[in-house]
Amino acid sequence: MTRGYFITFEGLDGSGKTTQLRLLDASLTAAGHKVVSLRQPGGTVLGDRIRGILLDSRSEDSLGPIAPATEMALMFADRAQAIAEIIEPALTVGNIVLCDRYTDSSEAYQGGGRQLGSERILAMHAAACGNLQPDLTILLLPSLEASLRRARRRNQRHTQQQGTDENRFERESDEFYRRIYEKYEEIAAREPRRVLPIRDEATIDQIHTRILEVIAARLPSVTA
Ligand code: TYD
Repeated sequence: MTRGYFITFEGLDGSGKTTQLRLLDASLTAAGHKVVSLRQPGGTVLGDRIRGILLDSRSEDSLGPIAPATEMALMFADRAQAIAEIIEPALTVGNIVLCDRYTDSSEAYQGGGRQLGSERILAMHAAACGNLQPDLTILLLPSLEASLRRARRRNQRHTQQQGTDENRFERESDEFYRRIYEKYEEIAAREPRRVLPIRDEATIDQIHTRILEVIAARLPSVTA
């Protein structure tokens, strides 16, 4: 049996990657593919617990400040579990796996944002993930200013409507997000074959069409 394809979506909070992931899932499913979608952190029972600790700004009230290296290790604990439980089994039976964030997020947020540096993240990736890399990464990178505006608006809405609080990251300063943005740029320049950056502010449908075209070109058997 041929191995499946592993596609990840990356970008700052508010970049629109979750919407694009859902649209791609729907298109590929309609074309008859078996698609498995998940998000990180989360996706497994253990991962959802880790997500709660990592993203709830109230965690730090009860647990105390989370050290950057702890944050990194928890992200990779979540990822290792998702690989073992979901990603690797799905790829083995030939499915397409769509993942909302993966190791590039750790490199951008913990490596860049928290200033741990890329080397530590990549070493952790080798240790925890056996270096499993996506076949394709869609990096949504509209301007930093536009991303920040959307993220702050979305998070306010989320807290008001659902009473849940996932804004530990959104509380960070613009400087933190600038470092993340620059790290994403660095990753895209370093790995041009794997990473497809989409920088313009096209409509949701236009970006979706672009993504389908790239998948058709790079992974012809998926759309054939
Ligand atoms: P989420 O609500 O999924 O945000 P988004 O919809 O923007 O993806 O929250 C994920 C948050 O966790 C986001 O702020 C990025 C952060 N994160 C890291 O810092 N490192 C990581 O390795 C991952 C996977 C996420």
